[in-house]
Amino acid sequence: MLLRILPDWHIPDREATPEATWLDRRAAVARLGMGMASLAAIGCTDTPPPESKTPDPTRDLYPATRNPAYTTSRPMTARNIAARFNNFYEFTPTKEEVARRVGRFVTHPWSLEVTGLCRAPQVFDLEKLLRQQTLEERVYRFRCVEAWSMVVPWTGFMLADLLKTVDPLSTARYLRLWTANRPEQMPGLKAQHWYPWPYYEALRIDEAMNPLAMLVTGIYGRPLPAQHGAPVRLIVPWKYGFKSIKSVVKIELVDRKPGTFWNALVPQEYDFSGNVDPRAPHPRWSQASERMIGRGDRVPTLLYNGYAKQVGGLYSG
Ligand code: MTE
Repeated sequence: MLLRILPDWHIPDREATPEATWLDRRAAVARLGMGMASLAAIGCTDTPPPESKTPDPTRDLYPATRNPAYTTSRPMTARNIAARFNNFYEFTPTKEEVARRVGRFVTHPWSLEVTGLCRAPQVFDLEKLLRQQTLEERVYRFRCVEAWSMVVPWTGFMLADLLKTVDPLSTARYLRLWTANRPEQMPGLKAQHWYPWPYYEALRIDEAMNPLAMLVTGIYGRPLPAQHGAPVRLIVPWKYGFKSIKSVVKIELVDRKPGTFWNALVPQEYDFSGNVDPRAPHPRWSQASERMIGRGDRVPTLLYNGYAKQVGGLYSG
């Protein structure tokens, strides 16, 4: 039973570092009838990635102005590659298939509830909210716990700005966040009924207030496609990717440390903080380096994914 609930990144140590980790998904390759070389080649073509079939009413808000304060010397991951290599278990645990399974997911209109320990709880209509915010683009490094990484231009606004709108009480010490729970639109919910759906995550309030923490609604100068977590997701780039919860419907301010999806399932492997730390190996593989998706180079992993200057103070105590 335990094996059935293990996440897709529960791969043997010997597979954690080689390219096989992310490309050699034997079952997927067999289904596609392709070899590794041709699978890799998909990402190298100019074929546009599949886009959501739901017309996006916020299309005119993109591209937003890029904030030059947030950039990296590492090369940007190609849009086509990022859009076809996703973790979104609500659809399928096979990364290369997520983009093909999201067709029934309705992402407009969308409500985002912010509630709990605050003076002005609200249910936001996302489109109206976006039109009140100043969206900006930031290029962030993105590091998955599986020891691969990307460099992605996200568009969105600071989570802190949304939280200020609801006026948190001083007793609010943590945030809980939930993904939509729509079995009729998300085939993975039934197919993997043993997971404790909906997906949920959490942050400390000081982490949530850090300027790096973003609510993201766009990528590569366009609205977020469903496979990346449309229409609104979290991005906390100093933490492993599993903390960056997708398709968020509710945020609750609470006073006690909440549980999180993967931590509840496999606590010894996925801690609450999820901070990127090359010195702390995953129980079954090293976190000292990472493979850059679409490039093949292996680069050293940086403490807090290279954002120590911005977030180190949160953990100094
Ligand atoms: N959010 C939800 N709701 N469901 C998921 O399966 N996977 C997480 C995170 N957010 C996940 C999620 C993991 S493990 C990663 S690495 C990132 O999303 C992947 O984001 P991307 O597909 O946009 O690259």
